[in-house]
Amino acid sequence: MPHDPDLPPAKKFKPGSVFFRLEKNKPGMLLPRKGNVTTPIDVQRKQLPIYQARTRIVNELRQLHNAIVIGETGSGKTTQIPQYLFEAGIGRQGLIAITQPRRVAAISLAARVSEEKRTQLGKLVGYTVRFEDVTSPETKLKFMTDGMLLREAIGDPMLLRYTVVVLDEAHERTVHTDVLFGVVKSAQRRRRELNKIPLRVIVMSATMDVDLFSEYFNKSPVLYLEGRQHPIQIYYTKQPQSDYVQAALVSVFQIHQEAPQSHDILVFMTGQEEIEALARTCRDIAKHLPDSCGPMVVIPLYASLPPAQQLRVFQPAPKGCRKVILATNIAETSVTISGIKYVIDTGMVKAKRFNPDSGLEVLAVQRVSKAQAWQRAGRAGREDAGFCYRLYTEQEFDNLIPTTVPEIQRCNLAGVMLQLMALGIPDVMNFDFMSKPSPEAVRSAVEHLELLGAVERKDGQVLLTALGKRMASFPLEPRYAKTILLSPDFSCSEEILSIVSLLSVDTVLFNPLGRRDEILAARKKFTSSEGDHMTLLNIYRAFKKVGGNKEWCRENFVNSRNMGLVKDVQAQLREICLKLNLKLESCGADTGSVRRCLAHGMFINAAELQPDGSYLALDTHQAVAIHPSSVLFQAKPAYVVFNELLHTSRCYMRDLCLVDADWLLDAAPEYFGRKLHLTRS
Ligand code: CDP
Ligand code: MG
Repeated sequence: MPHDPDLPPAKKFKPGSVFFRLEKNKPGMLLPRKGNVTTPIDVQRKQLPIYQARTRIVNELRQLHNAIVIGETGSGKTTQIPQYLFEAGIGRQGLIAITQPRRVAAISLAARVSEEKRTQLGKLVGYTVRFEDVTSPETKLKFMTDGMLLREAIGDPMLLRYTVVVLDEAHERTVHTDVLFGVVKSAQRRRRELNKIPLRVIVMSATMDVDLFSEYFNKSPVLYLEGRQHPIQIYYTKQPQSDYVQAALVSVFQIHQEAPQSHDILVFMTGQEEIEALARTCRDIAKHLPDSCGPMVVIPLYASLPPAQQLRVFQPAPKGCRKVILATNIAETSVTISGIKYVIDTGMVKAKRFNPDSGLEVLAVQRVSKAQAWQRAGRAGREDAGFCYRLYTEQEFDNLIPTTVPEIQRCNLAGVMLQLMALGIPDVMNFDFMSKPSPEAVRSAVEHLELLGAVERKDGQVLLTALGKRMASFPLEPRYAKTILLSPDFSCSEEILSIVSLLSVDTVLFNPLGRRDEILAARKKFTSSEGDHMTLLNIYRAFKKVGGNKEWCRENFVNSRNMGLVKDVQAQLREICLKLNLKLESCGADTGSVRRCLAHGMFINAAELQPDGSYLALDTHQAVAIHPSSVLFQAKPAYVVFNELLHTSRCYMRDLCLVDADWLLDAAPEYFGRKLHLTRS
């Protein structure tokens, strides 16, 4: 039974809020062509619903120092408002920063806006993401990840280079955006006190529950861009589904066969592997459909997809062909895809989850919030009436949590705490958080940093140590920073820098479909019995030996673009090491010292083989297993350290390194002696 389309969460507005009604493109008006192939870009800008409200928006923002802007995805908030401010001369004395939770969004938005301004990317409009800075002294509009602005704040807590900070996609509540709320608020206050040029802060959100934001910024006004959403029919399943991937597959083909016109379908899934597998199945089935069904193209979309492939999502399918996009939650609000009429919502998302008792952060597939479910449904009604198929029952929907829990309340806080302390914030627990993390999570993070030697307790206070200060110089998780800082003791800093760089980019391995045997044969010569870190290092060493040869990459199933990125990352990390006077040397063939160093830096993530062949994480005694993608999957060594945990059907360790129990004991004798009764062999 179809249900009436409910409206998204009750619209609540504060008195004093400003409303702008945005007219959708009226019938008869020139609509931008699907994919915007031919419409000149300045015409496209003027066709955006936000354009008509331009003058009023500018007039409002001119008077305000804090504003919250909400408007549906695709209305033009991110690309237009910074340009309007710039064109109106607001904040001309400095830069306008626009933060994004996602790297790909920062890059593609900067590219789009610089194109709209008809300038070269990196001149007037640029971007800064971790390990990549495409800006110049001319840059006025700077798109950046929230993490990068936070890093800049360490050197410049008042953010004096900026006159406007736009905190975009605020509804996502990433941990970095949440910390930035506090940082910009205090920067605003201090600049006022010191009579500096004021800082304007604009918070932009795609969802309407903005009370918290408004409250936090001293009841700042809300500018509501009211765009008309076309009606969307919502369908629920009658029964709970045990296999949402299977259910998604069935739904795709049901729509494909029953809906005659080739309108596009957007399916929300949880991650790369699942998406690639489903894409393969869809393509196989599509090949064998009767001729009465039109053709179909299946396009994956996830954050780690190379940019060129991501762009395929925006290209219209050939006439008469249906586009099926299989996406992660990246398609909820970060990117706008035109032409979607059907949304299939599995109701699932892959997100971080943290257990403060165990101190373990895992990536886990879990249910979305109601707010997310509404965002997903909304993608179907941008251009015309649409349909959303929820692969869960109405009762299951009713039981979803109303809004997504902010990341700060469900992640390992060690990295953030280290940054806050480096920012000179003494009492992290009393930091002006919009949503406070739990005391247990803070305690657990302090313990983590204490174990790494980054902080110490003195007279009831937690203080950054000299080591901690050095650790904060790296844009890396604390344990990686620590591993780098330890590496000179093991005479293997070059190798550790390579390994950390390899782990900092999306995978350097290229796994095209249907070529499994060839891939395995090619990888064999690099595979190390010492684990995944060493295997990656072997690949990198071979890559450097052939001078980054593209042909070599193709033959060996290595992603040459990401490998190039590894070189850049390594160069930047090396620069930081030089500033810190770290001795850089290579251990050559003595890879044992590399593993020893990894054991010392990563001992918190260690696991032990049990007599029954399973593994226990040493820290928490949680049952874990080796991920099938690991080169150690068959070998099952007695002790390993791992990079991360992924929770799907089981809790998997990913990227493992073989270590000795003795090394772990040497790394943290008290910790292991006390907690784990680990004894020397
Ligand atoms: O921020 P908001 O979701 O309100 O919209 P936006 O990101 O400013 O996008 C406004 C419009 O610009 C979209 O509907 C797209 O048509 C276009 N756009 C694009 O073509 N390419 C991009 N990389 C970003 C936006
Ligand atoms: Mg946006």
